[in-house]
Amino acid sequence: MRDRYPPLEPPKRLLLGPGPSPVSPRVYEALRKPIVGHMDPYLFEVAAEIRELLQYVFETRNELTLVVSGTGTSGMETAISNFVGPGTKVAVFVNGYFCERISEMARRQGAEVVRLERTWGEAFSPDEARDFIRRERPAVVAFVHGETSTGVVQEAKAICEAAHEVDALVIADTVTTLGNMPVKVDETGIDIAYSCSQKGLACTPGLAPVTVSPRAAERLRKRSTPNRSFYLDLALLEDYYHNRKYHHTASASLLYAMREALADIYEEQLERRFERIRRNHRAFVAGIEAMGLEMLVAEPNRLWPLNTPRVPEGVDDAKVRQYLLNEFGIEVLGGFGPLAGKVLRVGIMGAGSTRENVLAVLEALERALTLQGWQPKASGKEAAEAFYAGLNLSAASTGAQA
Ligand SMILES: Cc1ncc(COP(=O)(O)O)c(C=O)c1O
Repeated sequence: MRDRYPPLEPPKRLLLGPGPSPVSPRVYEALRKPIVGHMDPYLFEVAAEIRELLQYVFETRNELTLVVSGTGTSGMETAISNFVGPGTKVAVFVNGYFCERISEMARRQGAEVVRLERTWGEAFSPDEARDFIRRERPAVVAFVHGETSTGVVQEAKAICEAAHEVDALVIADTVTTLGNMPVKVDETGIDIAYSCSQKGLACTPGLAPVTVSPRAAERLRKRSTPNRSFYLDLALLEDYYHNRKYHHTASASLLYAMREALADIYEEQLERRFERIRRNHRAFVAGIEAMGLEMLVAEPNRLWPLNTPRVPEGVDDAKVRQYLLNEFGIEVLGGFGPLAGKVLRVGIMGAGSTRENVLAVLEALERALTLQGWQPKASGKEAAEAFYAGLNLSAASTGAQA
């Protein structure tokens, strides 16, 4: 009987797409540990450490900080369903796929959605963000901090300041930025931030970190009707994690994995991690530009963890991706919506952001493009190596460590 279903042997992939990102051995180890029940005091101890470590990565003192059982979308739905209801005026910044998803979720809650739109690949300026919010005076403002469909990072501060002027709450999607770039929840004034486990945190998919400011928590307490979603009701989730009252059967394995992934980040320390991810992003861009390719997003709006080089004229991006997967085991994804066939989405994030991976993907890309008859101007890999060498030189001259 065993012949029919032999043990699984998944292929080994180098995950350099928009997520999931590579997982460290420590996280894999955690998934093998004995599970305990969802009401076991040990699991609550693990959950308390996760909360403390999430406060560290979100850079917040928010008491209401927890993980939702579900992927990033469950984090988004937690933010929307707890703070948006029938008739709530919600202002959404729309410049990519995930902002569209926020609008759709708010609409499904019966909200009045007003939108400020920009072409995919562009960011909103502080002035236009402020004007929009002051004009609309919404109760809730939502934006995507790191738009994974385009590679744009959206500056948060002006949005939060203007929202607070009109007493609106700010929801930020930090699915691609948390653990990859500074999110600084308290400093920027984000009220509700949600994320995922499988990108910057370098954990397996399945959990969604959420943090809620005291003013948003106060708004939650004043709700006159309960959240229509039982599963994503933050008041019930808080009761489970803090007061140990049964709500759902949380997965011990996923919580262990998350605890270990966060401990890895704590050990590296945020500043060093962000510097590493930025450095590897810059090396990748140096390689891309040396080859004669262009980045979709203009500086300074580029996400460090998710790079979107444009697909050159005459090249079939699906063939490039297939070649990378078949010949090198490298996963890179393409664009979608208006960017379908026009960009590649290359994730150099979390634990996967290494010099070795940057050089490997540049070399593989160069080969894939050449095979399609596109001639790179120069070697991307060599340009990235030169970039790293330049860093070492300047570090040596200042006595700093590269
Ligand atoms: C910015 C952003 N928001 C939300 C999501 C949804 O997350 P998930 O696919 O984990 O449900 C994603 C997924 O990539 C994302 O990139």
